[in-house]
Amino acid sequence: KRIAVLYGGRADEHPISCVSAAGVLNAIDAERFDVLPIGITKTGQWIVDGPDPRNANLSGEAMPEVTVTATSRPVMLDVSLGKDGFFAADPHNPTNIAPLGHVDAVFPVLHGMYGEDGTVQGLLEMMGVPYVGCGVLASAACMDKHYTKVLLNAAGIPTAPGVMVDARRISAAEALEQVEQAGLQYPLFVKPSRSGSSFGVTKVEQPAALGEAIEKAGKHDWKVLIEQGIDAREIECAVLRPGEGDEPQVSQPGEIVLDRRETGDDQFYDFDSKYLDSSASHVEVPANLPAETLERVREVARRAFVAVDGAGLSRVDTFVTPSGTVMVNEINTMPGFTPISLYPKAWEAAGISYAALITRLIEGVLR
Ligand code: DAL
Ligand code: MG
Repeated sequence: KRIAVLYGGRADEHPISCVSAAGVLNAIDAERFDVLPIGITKTGQWIVDGPDPRNANLSGEAMPEVTVTATSRPVMLDVSLGKDGFFAADPHNPTNIAPLGHVDAVFPVLHGMYGEDGTVQGLLEMMGVPYVGCGVLASAACMDKHYTKVLLNAAGIPTAPGVMVDARRISAAEALEQVEQAGLQYPLFVKPSRSGSSFGVTKVEQPAALGEAIEKAGKHDWKVLIEQGIDAREIECAVLRPGEGDEPQVSQPGEIVLDRRETGDDQFYDFDSKYLDSSASHVEVPANLPAETLERVREVARRAFVAVDGAGLSRVDTFVTPSGTVMVNEINTMPGFTPISLYPKAWEAAGISYAALITRLIEGVLR
């Protein structure tokens, strides 16, 4: 079966997607699947035959880029979509369009906007091509942390209290008023509503720092969420439901344990500790919690996945308070697949290897 793997993309999380895709492409069962990697550049061009995506890393190597030299044959091709699948155009001669052949399914290994938010999913729905992962509604709802709360709260699943503000319009004084009206306690977490990988997130310890935090989050998204910081451990569950008729399977909850706590009071699991300093943390599955709490986390994760109409896979991130209350922090419909990512590690702990996991996800949509 021919599988197109989409990676890169226009979102801030472009490099993370490339590294996730490198993991997937290095592990995918090449005997079973004929793989067509399609890179999406930061500006949104779809290309094939670029730098080998299996070599992508966070230093920015092997990212999809359009580089056509005058002397060599172009190695990059523009990819477009037609009703019969994917087509490639020669960038030296854009009218020269060749079909890339039939594709049985697409694995969109894309994080963030224009990839994990329902837009690519909508495009694939229109083309009638099966794809791995959540559909349009779940992708769109979970990309937006504000709407995730709306759906989860409607299903009776608690989330951290917060308010949504428009960074383009709100003044620091108005934001402080809203925080007070909602009764939010410090510290606060200020986040872009539609982003990931902790981009633009600030921990705010006192009112004077709120304005700057909103401005910083607003660089990523005008929708900014101001949330009350929860005194809790962040516990994450991998949910897998490869085919439409399958029951969602929920992994043992895992925890990312920081090995080296740096000094400074703004320390949280931010972008740097996530990706740039992999020695700063390790994944523990199951998390060191009472069995009864682990079961409750799994049940909340399953209910959250169902509440948003999840499909394929998702990583449900929860907060577990010292008294054992479980809240959902967010749902990632295309969780990281990097070598340090929790999603594949949670299934490895359950005896499903990284390669077997990918096979299950793809075969689930081919059935
Ligand atoms: N958004 C990143 C990739 C994650 O949730 O793993
Ligand atoms: Mg995320």
